[in-house]
Amino acid sequence: MKLDGKVALITGTSSNIGGGIAEGMAAEGAAIVCVDVKPDNAADCARYIAASGGRAIAAACDVTNQHQVKAAVDQARVAFGGIDILVNGAAIFNQKGVLDMPLDEWERQIAIILTGTFLFTKHVARLMIEQKRKGAIINIISSAAHQGQPNNVAYCTSKCGLLNFTRSVAMELTPHGIRVNSLTPTATDPSEGIERAVRWGRKMPEAERIKQAFEPFRKRTPMQKLPSPRHYAKAAVFLASDDAEMMTGTDLRVDAGTVARYWAWDPAASSR
Ligand SMILES: NC(=O)c1ccc[n+]([C@@H]2O[C@H](COP(=O)([O-])OP(=O)(O)OC[C@H]3O[C@@H](n4cnc5c(N)ncnc54)[C@H](O)[C@@H]3O)[C@@H](O)[C@H]2O)c1
Repeated sequence: MKLDGKVALITGTSSNIGGGIAEGMAAEGAAIVCVDVKPDNAADCARYIAASGGRAIAAACDVTNQHQVKAAVDQARVAFGGIDILVNGAAIFNQKGVLDMPLDEWERQIAIILTGTFLFTKHVARLMIEQKRKGAIINIISSAAHQGQPNNVAYCTSKCGLLNFTRSVAMELTPHGIRVNSLTPTATDPSEGIERAVRWGRKMPEAERIKQAFEPFRKRTPMQKLPSPRHYAKAAVFLASDDAEMMTGTDLRVDAGTVARYWAWDPAASSR
């Protein structure tokens, strides 16, 4: 197994992408610390991994609160001895443009995506250095970080900021043997997240409506299908593993070709 004996702390462990990455890393042998501001998302993710034979704990934590971040890092150290892998995935979606975005909502979204990643990276990297662990940090981006999506100003701005946060911190931590990379997902097929939520014992009355809402995204994707959390999990396992030992400061896109697409090309038209 690629992550045998490793400990991974993952922020934002909903049943969608964070839950998928947590399960994918657990399947490769890592012990998982599931971190989420919603205690149920941390607890359900950890409980399912533990019930499947893995090792996992839950930490309820707001990534913007430094005291809570330090407590979650300490919880990981006490439970599993330290941290080898950090995945910064906690985020909120709030599609508003510069004309309509209230200041407090702008500040909150930027705080969760940028400051939350800064705080966890700071405190986990300090522990890795103290313990001389050659760790790996993975920041979750979005295709919206690479393109000018209208009316999503705080999300596009903060996710783009994470691209250069990744490069800057990668350079800073290289002397300590810590690699820092990012992973770019795109609009994600909701089916797997819905199935995971049901496995976690949740009711999903809106499942069909959610699946239909993603159909327009699928049609604009060069591969004419959307990635699922398990595809991101494979990429995250790769970035965290020794297979990526010579990679730092890189962004790995698992986006079915969306960022590479020529702007005027309609993939749905040419596939007919
Ligand atoms: N779903 C997509 O289509 C998509 C596309 C591109 C990128 N992404 C990125 O992937 C990641 C996961 O997305 P998702 O679709 O699974 O979203 P999600 O909303 O299902 O999960 C995000 C999780 O972050 C948690 N969170 C929010 N604020 C927090 C805080 N202050 N402290 C701790 N946890 C907090 C939420 O409770 C939730 O569990 C995000 O970084 C997102 O930007 C998602």
